[in-house]
Amino acid sequence: MTTRIFVPRDAAARAVGADRVAAAILDEAKRLGLAVDVVRTGSRGLFWLEPMVEVETPGGRIAFGPMTAKDVPGLLAGGLPLSAAHPLCVGRPQDIPFLKSQTRITFARCGIVDPLSLADYRAHGGYRGLERAKSLGTVATVEEVTKSGLRGRGGAGFPTGIKWKTVADTTADRKYIVCNADEGDSGTYADRMIMEGDPFLLIEGMTIAGFAVGATKGYIYIRSEYPDAIRVMERAVVLAEAEGLLGAEAKFDIEIRVGAGAYVCGEETSLLESLEGKRGQVRAKPPLPAHKGLFGKPTVINNLISLATVPAILADGAKHYADLGMGRSRGTMPIQLAGNVRHGGLFEAAFGLTLGEIVDDIGGGTASGRPARAVQVGGPLGAYFPRALFDTPFDYEAFTAREGLIGHGGVVVFDDSVDMAKQARFALEFCAIESCGKCTPCRIGSVRGTETMDKIIAGNRPEANLALIADLCQTLKFGSLCALGGFTPYPVMSAIKLFPEDFTRPRLAAAAE
Ligand SMILES: Cc1cc2nc3c(=O)[nH]c(=O)nc-3n(C[C@H](O)[C@H](O)[C@H](O)COP(=O)(O)O)c2cc1C
Ligand code: SF4
Repeated sequence: MTTRIFVPRDAAARAVGADRVAAAILDEAKRLGLAVDVVRTGSRGLFWLEPMVEVETPGGRIAFGPMTAKDVPGLLAGGLPLSAAHPLCVGRPQDIPFLKSQTRITFARCGIVDPLSLADYRAHGGYRGLERAKSLGTVATVEEVTKSGLRGRGGAGFPTGIKWKTVADTTADRKYIVCNADEGDSGTYADRMIMEGDPFLLIEGMTIAGFAVGATKGYIYIRSEYPDAIRVMERAVVLAEAEGLLGAEAKFDIEIRVGAGAYVCGEETSLLESLEGKRGQVRAKPPLPAHKGLFGKPTVINNLISLATVPAILADGAKHYADLGMGRSRGTMPIQLAGNVRHGGLFEAAFGLTLGEIVDDIGGGTASGRPARAVQVGGPLGAYFPRALFDTPFDYEAFTAREGLIGHGGVVVFDDSVDMAKQARFALEFCAIESCGKCTPCRIGSVRGTETMDKIIAGNRPEANLALIADLCQTLKFGSLCALGGFTPYPVMSAIKLFPEDFTRPRLAAAAE
């Protein structure tokens, strides 16, 4: 009997040698005459254990990690079935506390299935969502998404069902579904993991969206820094077309477009400009993309995770999803732990965990072993939270109340060696580099802000210059056309207000030396 051995082909696993491990398994199995089938999967999202190899046994899969090619002869030395006695054995994946305590809905299949096998996708519940949508009809499908409470996972948290209803209710000869897979936020990788680990899920989600609002064409806009994701998605589209799941028979097709690496091209109107072949510059709203979007037609533009969550909502019912979470934040969120953290990885959980639980219990504290001092949540435009605010629950409204945002779910941890004055400067410099240049507060203000922060760091009249920064942040917040300029004050002002000791003369002088 052939034994299946699962090795992730996810970019994070490949970066730490998964391809070498897969090749070594095949070589060693051949040498020992063992019947082995290496299946390349996505990642389960436990990055500190990557490459994490899973071996099929009569009692289910057992996992080993982090593996290197050198560990492979030892792993296979005792023959098959494998024994769990190997020092790198971490037991059954589902028993690893980091996985056991998750509520995996969007990521239920990621790391388990062969991403490019439609048979595997179906065997694990794939296409049940589309089937139910078809049985409900278009209006009830949109209602189901609304009832689930799903809010956009790209950052703004806008209710997905309301966006879909606006497009469904707008009459036009052509409508579009656009998947935003630009994933520019620091410390985020959830979109990439789905594209590499469960691409048919996105295809199904977009097909449901197309059916629900009356769109026949979809685009996936992927950042160029994701070559593996682009390759897997392109192949998945071809396979779906071959089975009639995309194309004329399905009344929906998908094209993949690659971005050129501008953060602002993740902003929806800028993305649409870029898709139309123009320079990625923000459009003034109204009109909303739902009324006049891609090529002037009504367009649903959603983050990848929003679209990839829809199949499960349809398959298991809106209530099943809406029963999870807290307040107006319903369902689950794929939290992505990054930065200086011991257990970096993807943790899908119902809304409501506190920041402290996420950093200390799930993340295991910092990788350096020093105390965690600051956490930036929600990407480069998110606020920095000190330990005193670690009781903040992961919830859209709770973060807004504390002048922060959860954005796309990125949590970047810093230890006590972080210099918050430099982080504040970095936020302004980031805005200056990434600004699309359309409006003055962002285009000019970000440059002046960086220069002023340089003066503060050099100890040049810090009190007066900090007052200037506060004034500038007010202008950015209320005078910018989009959230790039409008939200840059969050990281800047949270650093100044919540870590004031890093902006005092003695500390600045010490840091400047
Ligand atoms: C500067 C900027 C960058 C953004 N980058 C992304 C991104 O990379 N991915 C994303 O899904 N949304 C991004 N957004 C949010 C989008 O504009 C938009 O809200 C989102 O695609 C809508 O989908 P959703 O409702 O499913 O979240 C960005 C917004 C701004 C202002
Ligand atoms: S805030 Fe910045 S990125 Fe946004 S429209 Fe204005 S110049 Fe462009």
